[in-house]
Amino acid sequence: MDARDLLRLVRTVRTARGVRSLRSALRRRSADRAGLPRPGAERARVPGAAQGADPLPGGGVVRFARSSLRVRVAAGGAVFCGWDGAGPEPSYALNGPGPEVDERAVLEPDTDGGWRVVSERVLVVVGRHGTVEVRTPGGVLLRRDLPPRWWEPADAEGRERQGAGEPRWALRSEVAADARFFGLGGRAAGPRLRDGSYRLWNTDPDGAFVPGDDPLYITMPVQLVVADAGTHLVFHDDSWDGRVTLAEGEEGAGSGHDRPGRCEVRMDGGPLRYWVLVGTPARVLHGWASLTGAAALPPAWALGHHHARWGFGSEREVRRVVEGYAERGLPLSALHLDIDHYRGHRVFTVDRERFPDLPGLAAELRERGVRLVSIVDPAVKAEPGQWVFDSGAAADAFVRDARGRRVRGEVWPGESVFPDFTDPRVRKWWGGLYGERLAQGFSGVWHDMNEPVSFAPFGDPSLPLSARHSLEGRGGDHREAHNVYGLAMARAGYEALCELRPGERPFLFSRSGWAGMQRYGGTWSGDVATGWPGLRASLSLVLGLGLCGVPYSGPDIGGFSGFPSPELYVRWFQLGSYLPLFRTHSAIDAGPREPWEFGGEALEHAGAALRERMRLLPYFVTLAHLARRTGAPYVRPVWWRSPEDRALRDCEDAFLLGDSLLVAPVLEQGADRRAVRLPRGLWYDTATGKAHEGPGQVLLDAPLSRIPVLARAGSVIPVQRTAESASGPAGPSPAGRSELAALSGPSGPTASSGPSGPSGPSGPVELEVWAPAPGRTGGGVLVPDGGDGWEPQEAVRFTTRRRDGAVVVEQEGAEEVGYPVRVRGEGA
Ligand code: NOJ
Repeated sequence: MDARDLLRLVRTVRTARGVRSLRSALRRRSADRAGLPRPGAERARVPGAAQGADPLPGGGVVRFARSSLRVRVAAGGAVFCGWDGAGPEPSYALNGPGPEVDERAVLEPDTDGGWRVVSERVLVVVGRHGTVEVRTPGGVLLRRDLPPRWWEPADAEGRERQGAGEPRWALRSEVAADARFFGLGGRAAGPRLRDGSYRLWNTDPDGAFVPGDDPLYITMPVQLVVADAGTHLVFHDDSWDGRVTLAEGEEGAGSGHDRPGRCEVRMDGGPLRYWVLVGTPARVLHGWASLTGAAALPPAWALGHHHARWGFGSEREVRRVVEGYAERGLPLSALHLDIDHYRGHRVFTVDRERFPDLPGLAAELRERGVRLVSIVDPAVKAEPGQWVFDSGAAADAFVRDARGRRVRGEVWPGESVFPDFTDPRVRKWWGGLYGERLAQGFSGVWHDMNEPVSFAPFGDPSLPLSARHSLEGRGGDHREAHNVYGLAMARAGYEALCELRPGERPFLFSRSGWAGMQRYGGTWSGDVATGWPGLRASLSLVLGLGLCGVPYSGPDIGGFSGFPSPELYVRWFQLGSYLPLFRTHSAIDAGPREPWEFGGEALEHAGAALRERMRLLPYFVTLAHLARRTGAPYVRPVWWRSPEDRALRDCEDAFLLGDSLLVAPVLEQGADRRAVRLPRGLWYDTATGKAHEGPGQVLLDAPLSRIPVLARAGSVIPVQRTAESASGPAGPSPAGRSELAALSGPSGPTASSGPSGPSGPSGPVELEVWAPAPGRTGGGVLVPDGGDGWEPQEAVRFTTRRRDGAVVVEQEGAEEVGYPVRVRGEGA
């Protein structure tokens, strides 16, 4: 027990809950003493010298003195490496059996007694002592893995101890000296991962976190490495506890030689296997989505504004808040109910004194265009007689320890038990319970506390490591199941919602998860601390998660824990309005987050951000579809299309929203201007219409009323047609308008004759076209989906160019552009 644990202990035992959590932590310790293999002597192993190789489809197996390596190149260029007989399956991350092999990729002898697999997209070179190099087809080195090491339980004579547990393993790699690391799940101190050690163990940081806190709720052994030579993603498919230690390289270090970037992955167990994907960032993320599954498509309403709070306390308060939005003309899409609406914090119950008619309230809000979203915690109060507990006990759904006793922990409802979501039978049982949530009128679910958390005054606030899990029938313990617990819970929820309400796309987001979680929904920041560092962390998390394949997320606007100043609130609101999940939320003892609670000026600015978000809703819906189809996150680092631009690689305070917009939030107190680094090309400041040429840095005004947002020249951005835009003239350029008149009619077919815009608070769509740079072309996409169903949606594509100085917009496959067009941008 360290000093921090001691402090936690003293703090907690002052309450009944504290005493119960102390008891639970003691139980956890004794369960692990009895149920885990005793640590003892180990013997180290390396692969030894290569002795031969056997070609197989897509590559082959290289046999070493003390191990073997399977190399398999898939059709899209994804490389799989599995040591010691490890294959791609079973895997919680993969969506299905993994991609088809590339039949043309063959294993052939290399010089120096090694082997190589040559394929169209990637070259893999295996050295005779077990180094593995991943190179571009032209031979440029992207990653060199040194021979791995294992530590196996051994007896005093150094003989292997059978049944004494899994070997630990470590793999060191080198990357280019100029490379930058990203990913590893949701990290508050990112998005660029600085030198340091990052743990792979999903953790509730216990109270609100700041950028130094690590790990957080979602850790993933997924790294995106960006270097001049190319971008690659590496995924170590192992859910055990581990650490990744990163050290960026240095060019011209010591006597003029480059020092490569270094990465070491050390795992406490599990298979040593990994995937490497190479290409442009877009290609790599596409490959990652093909491997792990397309992102769930949120219903269109989930891209509007959400208001949450822990502690609404009653139906009356909910109505007051909804009324507050309506009175001020502020659009609201969803309102989230936290654990305080449960009876005694018991999941799948309602406190009928405070919420006497939840279905009635839900219907009333729905009428007003507001959906209700329910928190769902995995912990079930251990209380015989209570229906959720009884039905779970009857289904034998709860995690047991090595001695066969139900694991009891301490969470919000008191002493609790935990469903084993790694058991398909349990997922089915749990999923059935969502029927109760739907009957209460909820439209979506918010999974919380699923790291899983069991409060503890010392040690890890989770289940005993020795707790038994089904792991899809293979059997295993919490050391392997912990990191995939939230992912498996998300699967249970998602599949249940699909089944219970087949006509609607589920809305689900989850605090914890792992590689592949995007198949079931999104996530949010968790308990980010109120303060300027928390604001910065909010962006790091969203960017980092996007690069790990989870495109839908956002922070608690205003921070979870405290009382933001009006300025901080406005800046957070402005950032949040450009992120996929746009949600205000706060702790039960924190200040309010309603936009009108921060004074008139803040209300005005938050209102403007909110209205702009709703105007951009068709663009957000399109980005959601593109994320599903291509794997590209909505929110992308500024280097997305130019990873070779080193200055952009180090830019962490701005992002691209889709292809068209560059958003530069204000993350510093008191700032009213900020420097913005531009990728190459022409960019328009959307507030002033002024054009700026990239690459380079510009200083832009950022008064409290707005943050700088730039549009890429030539972009076509689908936006909601507002009363103002419908009545006002089109773009600022008469030449542009007259040209448009010839091509698509002055106002084009109006929305009523074209496809309709998203439903709910939104309306018909128009195209905001940013004039292409002279001599250049541009374009954009619209996926005209306003609903929450599964109907396939055709993407509508547009191109832009200039003809005789005027802007021409064309719609692919159509005689005329089917939407009203407004041209903007200098000289259009
Ligand atoms: C922790 C979650 O992160 C937070 O958002 C929620 O309000 C509390 N649990 C209470 O349910």
